[in-house]
Amino acid sequence: MNMTANLPKIELHLHLEGAAPPAFIRGLAKEKAMDLSGIFDERGHYAYRDFWHFLKVYEAATETLKSPEDYHRLTLAVLEESAASGVVYSETFLSPDFCGGRDVEAWKDYLAAIREAADLAEKRDGITLRGIITAIRHFGPEKARETALCAAETAGDWIVGFGLAGDEKMGKPKDFAWSFDAAREAGLRLTAHAGEWGGPDSVRDAIRDLGVERIGHGVRAIEDLALVDEIAEKGVVLEVCPGSNVALGIYRTWRDHPIHRLRERGVKVTVSTDDPPFFHTTMKNEYDRLADAFDWDEGVFDAIARTSIDAAFCDGDTRDRIVKKLEAARA
Ligand code: ADE
Ligand code: ZN
Repeated sequence: MNMTANLPKIELHLHLEGAAPPAFIRGLAKEKAMDLSGIFDERGHYAYRDFWHFLKVYEAATETLKSPEDYHRLTLAVLEESAASGVVYSETFLSPDFCGGRDVEAWKDYLAAIREAADLAEKRDGITLRGIITAIRHFGPEKARETALCAAETAGDWIVGFGLAGDEKMGKPKDFAWSFDAAREAGLRLTAHAGEWGGPDSVRDAIRDLGVERIGHGVRAIEDLALVDEIAEKGVVLEVCPGSNVALGIYRTWRDHPIHRLRERGVKVTVSTDDPPFFHTTMKNEYDRLADAFDWDEGVFDAIARTSIDAAFCDGDTRDRIVKKLEAARA
């Protein structure tokens, strides 16, 4: 067993549908007599050409998830994989767009099923899950408002955040300001995808116009060192997903990835998988590849786990419980 296997890991950026094992989606498609053969390659992996095609394949796979019961099964399957990688706390992006078409009452049924599965997984695997409701940028600001209303209705100790994912090239962060304001007023903590496909300005805009405390990806801030320094100074946390960025071709190799330079310059970086089976990764794989690429040792991963739990959107009692797990592993 190598060094990273036993390290307790905190994951802050995981799309629930994007974490669906392909075999799980194929099983659902078979049950429902749906033909999804076009989204898999000959080895049974998800097949896509680029990021925009990835979004289409993601949405096609999600078509199989039609009921709260399907999401219950999905949640159990995803948390089993996460726990096997040593994840002890995870925050997952949930989209009422896919769960009941943004109808508040339908969304509550989906959420109840997801939470029930999360409780079972916590008892089974010792992994704690919390949810971040996420608007999908390419579905537009109007739908994002409905999503924000679902978020406000279900905000609490389990739905702890609000975010924005999808095609970063569609619209501007400020188009979504109303939704973020509504979510903030409901007590939710805020994050948005930026600086993945957009350059440094997309990160600047998300911080200024949405008031987010975390950025999904954010790695392209590295192209503007003044922005990197601003992020470090403000304590904005980056949810970095190196394997996703390499798989989608933003960086050619792991060694080209800026996570190490961002960290060295004082930015709070965390490590996540984004959509693990799409990118042939797991949390353990992320740790192994980072250790290889940058010579990161246990001390670095321990510091990253601490940064991550500090940046988690959960309540203080949950945080204390997870910190105890990190401390017990260190002892
Ligand atoms: N939805 C799922 N994965 C995503 C990513 N990497 N960027 C934007 N939207 C996403
Ligand atoms: Zn993402």
